[in-house]
Amino acid sequence: MPKLRVAVLGATGAVGQELVRLLDSHPWFSLAVLVASDRSVGRRYGEVVDWRSPGFPPRAASGLLIEPLGRQPEVDLVLSALDSAVAGPAELELARAGYPVVSNSSVHRMDPDVPLVIPEVNASHLDALRAAPGAGGGFIVTNPNCSTIGLVLALKPLWDRFGVSQVQVATMQAISGAGLDGVSAGMISDNVLPHIPGEEEKLETEPRKILGRWEGAFLPAALAVSAACHRVAVLDGHLEAVSVKLMSSATADEVVDAFESFRASPEVAALPSSPPFPVQLHRRPDRPQPRLDRGAGRGMTVSVGRVRECSVLDWKFTALSHNLVRGAAGAALLNAELLVARGEVRPSFGAGVGG
Ligand SMILES: NC(=O)c1ccc[n+]([C@@H]2O[C@H](COP(=O)([O-])OP(=O)(O)OC[C@H]3O[C@@H](n4cnc5c(N)ncnc54)[C@H](OP(=O)(O)O)[C@@H]3O)[C@@H](O)[C@H]2O)c1
Repeated sequence: MPKLRVAVLGATGAVGQELVRLLDSHPWFSLAVLVASDRSVGRRYGEVVDWRSPGFPPRAASGLLIEPLGRQPEVDLVLSALDSAVAGPAELELARAGYPVVSNSSVHRMDPDVPLVIPEVNASHLDALRAAPGAGGGFIVTNPNCSTIGLVLALKPLWDRFGVSQVQVATMQAISGAGLDGVSAGMISDNVLPHIPGEEEKLETEPRKILGRWEGAFLPAALAVSAACHRVAVLDGHLEAVSVKLMSSATADEVVDAFESFRASPEVAALPSSPPFPVQLHRRPDRPQPRLDRGAGRGMTVSVGRVRECSVLDWKFTALSHNLVRGAAGAALLNAELLVARGEVRPSFGAGVGG
C-alpha cells in the first residue's frame, strides 16, 4: 500500500514536534504538510522549529515550508496538535471539507458525534462514524487529555475484571504538558503549582465518556471521579496517585493479576504504534518514576506500581504515562492507525478530497 499523505497542524508545538518525530519513520504515513501560526508561515520547518527532542528535526520535515491554516492541504489525513484557542473552528472546517481529522485538542472531545478514543479501551466507539457519516466522508476523532489517558488505561484492567464505581486521583504533571511556552523556570523551580486550568474538569468527565457505551449516542459510564491536578518540576511524564472503589471485591493477587494479564485486542496489538504491553506493573515499591519509566514501550506503555489496599476506598496504586507520547502524539497516531485498519481512512488525495 502506498503511504498515506498526512498533514500536521500545530507542527512547531510540543505535541506537533512529537508527531513529526514519530511520523519520520512511520510505515503507513508520510509527512506531507506542516501547518503553524503566521509567525512561521512560509519558512522552512528546520529554520523555525524550536526543536526540544534530542538531536535534530528529521531531515525530510526540515525542508518543508510551513503552511497557514485555512487551506485545503493535499493529504489523506489531518493530525491536529493545534492550540485549543484555534483548533475548534479549524478542525470543524477541515472535517466538513471531507478530511478525516485526528485531534489532540480538547475542543471537540465531548461533542455528541465525536468519538473520544483510546484504542485499547473503546475502539468500538469508532462505530459512531458509520452511524452518522460526516459530509463528504470527513470526521473528527479525538484522543483524551494527557492525564485522562494514563488514568483510564490504568483503570481498564480493573474495570473489565471487577467494575469500578469511584475514583480519587491526584496528578503530578510534567512541564511539557503545558506546551512549549506554558511554564517558566521561575514559576516551577522549587515549586508545585496546585492549579492547572480546566484539567480537573477534563479528568472528571472524559473517563465517563470513554468507559461508556456507544448505542446510537454516547452513554456515559456510571463512574464518579474526583481529581486534584498539580504541575511539578518534571520535564516529561505525568504521575498519578489513584484510589478506586470496585464494584465487586478483589484480593491483592487478583488486582495484580488483572494488571499483569491486560492486553490490547489482536486488532489493536497489530497496529504499528501499539506497545507490547499497554499497561505494565512494577513490583518494586519505588517505581514507577518519570525519569526511569516514561520511555516504557517507546513512551506508549502506562506503568503502574505501588498496588496496595486503601483505607477509604478499596485499592490504590500509582500510574505513570509519557504525556507527549501516550498522552498526545502517540495516542493520535494509534487512533489514526486504527482508523486506517478499519477502512475509515483511505488514500483519497487525487480522488476529490483535498485535490
Ligand atoms: N502538551 C501536552 O502534553 C498535551 C497533551 C495532550 C493534548 N494536548 C493538546 O494538544 C494541543 C497542542 O498542545 P502543545 O502542548 O503542543 O501546545 P504548544 O506547544 O503551545 O503548540 C501549539 C501549536 O499551535 C500552533 N498555533 C497556534 N496558533 C495558531 C494559528 N492561529 N494557526 C496555526 N497554528 C497555530 C503553534 O504554532 P506556532 O509555533 O507557529 O505559534 C504551535 O505549533 C493543545 O490543544 C493541547 O491542549 C497537549
